[in-house]
Amino acid sequence: MNVSFRLNGEDVTATDVSPTTTLLDWLRETRGLTGTKEGCNEGDCGACSVIVTDDTGALPLNACILFLPQLRGKAIRTVEGIGAPDGTLHPVQQAMIDHHGSQCGFCTPGFITTMAANHLNGRTDHDTALAGNLCRCTGYAPIIRAAKAAETAPVPAHMHDIPLLLAKNIPGEPQAGAAPPEYTTEYPTNLDGFADWYAANPDTTLIAGATDVGLWVTKLMRDLGQTAFLSHVEGLRGITVTDDTITIGATTTLSDLHPVMAEHHPAFAELIRRYGSAQVRNAATIGGNVANGSPIGDGPPALIALDATLHLRQGAKSRSLPIADFFIDYGKQDRAKGEFLTHITLPRSADHLRCYKLSKRFDQDISAVCGAFWIDVADGKVQTARLAFGGMAGTPKRGSHAEAALSGKPWTEETVRAAMAELAEDFTPLSDMRASAAYRMEAAQNMLLRAWTEDQGAPTLVLEVRA
Ligand SMILES: Cc1cc2nc3c(=O)[nH]c(=O)nc-3n(C[C@H](O)[C@H](O)[C@H](O)COP(=O)(O)OP(=O)(O)OC[C@H]3O[C@@H](n4cnc5c(N)ncnc54)[C@H](O)[C@@H]3O)c2cc1C
Ligand code: FES
Ligand code: FES
Repeated sequence: MNVSFRLNGEDVTATDVSPTTTLLDWLRETRGLTGTKEGCNEGDCGACSVIVTDDTGALPLNACILFLPQLRGKAIRTVEGIGAPDGTLHPVQQAMIDHHGSQCGFCTPGFITTMAANHLNGRTDHDTALAGNLCRCTGYAPIIRAAKAAETAPVPAHMHDIPLLLAKNIPGEPQAGAAPPEYTTEYPTNLDGFADWYAANPDTTLIAGATDVGLWVTKLMRDLGQTAFLSHVEGLRGITVTDDTITIGATTTLSDLHPVMAEHHPAFAELIRRYGSAQVRNAATIGGNVANGSPIGDGPPALIALDATLHLRQGAKSRSLPIADFFIDYGKQDRAKGEFLTHITLPRSADHLRCYKLSKRFDQDISAVCGAFWIDVADGKVQTARLAFGGMAGTPKRGSHAEAALSGKPWTEETVRAAMAELAEDFTPLSDMRASAAYRMEAAQNMLLRAWTEDQGAPTLVLEVRA
């Protein structure tokens, strides 16, 4: 297949590439652009960070788990394209020199591209924005100092990339506005056409952000067979908020979800902030996070607690189900062959959500236990209790015994402790490298106590030290 995009300001076409060629491999092996480094090859270290611009803006992404078809019609800027064409250094490059932000230099291209993207976007939350870039030798203080020092410098003109949009009718590729083709290409754009095609070709591997699927290729060396990329399918991305519903398209990224949740359910937004890294959140979709059925995904517990509904489609048929019913067993979801997730709806209501993620590292780590609770209290009594956990069973799951122990009861420590005991009836967690079974159970129980303690006004946030 051929894929066209803009690379460091130049229009290019990657010809005769496999759809699962990663951008990192193509840059290094075909274009000789070896400034973009391969560290982990699984989205963890940021050494391969590049800037990708599409019609929604310019974002840092990990090139190692980005397949070429995801870049169609976009603009990419690698570390080779950060300095001006006349050789003038970008302000973040100069600041890294001035503040001694590099020692061995292996991580430096990834830091430079991420910092340049943040500089372009006026982002100054450097600790969060750079959490996906790991440095083993310099230490982060000089790097953060460099990022701060460059904040007010003007954005160099060449950094304003214009994506090579579909509208340009790229030669040799499906034309904009053309009738949906027979979908033998990897680029479905029309939702109805794609739904029919996928129903007839159900063994296709769907790829959204590729933050899971990318690793099947780079780590498991799997041949994915027929693939279809969802990123260009119209109507699957975006969030609509009405008086009573929040509708989230399946290919909405975690980065796009964050500000909406910050407004309506801040605890979910805080959970999203700790989801992977900026680069991962810029690619990962909420649909992929649900559809992969992982027992340790962070989205599902929050969505279960929020009483979300999933909407699925198979050909012309659509159906809806409560998200809690989607997860049947480990590796088994209520999704028929040829059926895909189109969107998720949440009732829009006053916020009663609390989310707690426990992982070995604060940033860029998978949960050992994730608890999300919707506890609605009125007149001192629990009206509604939805308690959902990740990491406690083979699926994300509600604690129905514990919920029963809370519902209709006075919202007191005694009630909460009774519900904590009931969690042992609800879950039999496993021991693995992230946590022992006993630790998981105790942590889950204490999350419930923490929710109550917080509700009483006690400070529990570990990042916030109060006297
Ligand atoms: C470094 C790193 C850190 C991570 N950290 C976290 C974390 O902190 N918390 C967390 O929960 N996850 C984390 N993940 C996992 C991953 O980011 C999420 O599961 C992500 O949301 C998957 O979304 P995606 O769009 O990338 O899915 P993809 O990889 O594209 O797809 C995942 C699966 O879902 C299927 N799929 C995708 N979209 C649809 C659809 N619309 N309908 C039907 N099937 C579909 C695909 O076929 C595939 O089976 C991390 C991953 C990496 C690499
Ligand atoms: S090489 Fe580590 S994130 Fe890509
Ligand atoms: S400078 Fe050596 S890893 Fe960062």
